[in-house]
Amino acid sequence: MDNALRLQYLEAMGIDVWLPRASAHSEQPLSPEVVTDNSEPETTADQWDILQAEVANCTKCALCATRTQTVFGSGNKQADWMLVGEAPGQHEDEQGLPFVGNAGLLLTEMLRAIGLTREEVFITNILKCRPPSNRDPHADEVESCNDYLQRQLKMIQPKIILAIGRIAAQTLLKTDAPLAKLRGKVHTFNNTPVVVVYHPAYLLRSLSEKRKAWLDLQLAIQTVKDNKG
Ligand code: URA
Repeated sequence: MDNALRLQYLEAMGIDVWLPRASAHSEQPLSPEVVTDNSEPETTADQWDILQAEVANCTKCALCATRTQTVFGSGNKQADWMLVGEAPGQHEDEQGLPFVGNAGLLLTEMLRAIGLTREEVFITNILKCRPPSNRDPHADEVESCNDYLQRQLKMIQPKIILAIGRIAAQTLLKTDAPLAKLRGKVHTFNNTPVVVVYHPAYLLRSLSEKRKAWLDLQLAIQTVKDNKG
């Protein structure tokens, strides 16, 4: 899709288009250093394929009976940035890809605003299957899926995890704290820094929070820079 058409499409849906701050406002210029590094990953293509096949055939919890297909994740297997959302919704379940609905479009724009594309990062979810009617994940489902996320993390070895929304943040950080308390700080998950950001579906309903969302993204950029040594 060309750029003008993409913008028209987003505007028609009432989605604010995120422009790189350097051109839109006067805050700190973006660092070009936040893109991925191309060093060899520790994993082999075989291990990745095995994991993908395991997820595709998973029957560890009841969600296997209601899903159309699993949603493994998409993007760069050597990404510096790993984005973890909650669970596939209807569109993701139909297409087998994460964040492809309206929230996904906004997430793509949020990434563009910090100079990243979806192809540079890796995007996945806590759950690889859609919960019926998009209800919150159950504890046993999270437990069943946990091993897949852990293995993805181990293979990708990102420099930062963005926990997208409350459920992803609370699950990764094993806490009941509200999102307002979790955002604005750098946490860790298995020694990897975690920054919590508002879920784009929430931002679509509460555009007044966009400024806080921008601050969260800046915190993430700074964290990656600080950890580059
Ligand atoms: N919301 C999520 O948390 N994940 C998706 O993949 C889509 C919507």
